[in-house]
Amino acid sequence: MSASSTPVGIIGGTGVYDPAWLQESFEQDVETPYGTTRVTGGRTGGRVVYFMNRHGAGHSVPPHRVNYRANLWALKSLGIRVVVATTAVGSLRRTIPPGALLLSDQFLDFTKSRVTTFYDGGADGVVHTDMTSPYCSGVGRTLFEHGQTLGLPMVLGGTYVATEGPRFESAAEVAVFGRLGGDVVGMTGVPEVVLARELGLCYATLSIVTNLGAGLSESPLTHEEVLGLMAATVGSVRDLLVASLPVLGEAECACGPGPERLPGLSAEV
Ligand code: HPA
Repeated sequence: MSASSTPVGIIGGTGVYDPAWLQESFEQDVETPYGTTRVTGGRTGGRVVYFMNRHGAGHSVPPHRVNYRANLWALKSLGIRVVVATTAVGSLRRTIPPGALLLSDQFLDFTKSRVTTFYDGGADGVVHTDMTSPYCSGVGRTLFEHGQTLGLPMVLGGTYVATEGPRFESAAEVAVFGRLGGDVVGMTGVPEVVLARELGLCYATLSIVTNLGAGLSESPLTHEEVLGLMAATVGSVRDLLVASLPVLGEAECACGPGPERLPGLSAEV
């Protein structure tokens, strides 16, 4: 089955909570070996879409406590091949200003306390997943092109630095991350992308730049600043998703088919 005829998963991050644009929507609980995840299913432009709030109802789950394995496993078990995840990020470069929408192609992992794999020993054995190109280039390119058509400030490619949070960074950390080659910094991109790759999903992150990183702007960073920029941008994000959803998965990519069986179970996918 081609990826463009399968349902699409959307993981809504900070500020992207409301899938009101889905038609014929319904709520569904998905049981996984890692816990239960709630999704909203529906349709747009003829495409079946499942939406999930990464931070749970009322933004109650902090980045280091998100059940990333349950979320990704649930999407895969729903027959989804293409996943678009939104993330709020700080910019590590003044040339990437607040308001920009960036599609990352690489990541640097500075998280500390998270389970970052489905292959945790046991029946699945030891599995080392290739992470050369962690994000789906086809889905990223399609989102970029649709965003450009809509006149949005798109950036194609960039390195996402993942921190543990929930605190923001020190000014020294932001300076070092920039020197290491990072472009944006956020708290949820890893292990999400790693788990998606382990499942062979065509996964792209749409990072919404909500602020300059700590120390790059005159004033201290606040969560209100992040939420304010998100509120101003969420309409554009919705327009971009609605415009591109029908064709996501059509563009060529190198993601491959993924495992024949879901890890952690003996069931066929
Ligand atoms: N740092 C980490 N996470 C973030 C930021 C930031 O500056 N802005 C939004 N999410």
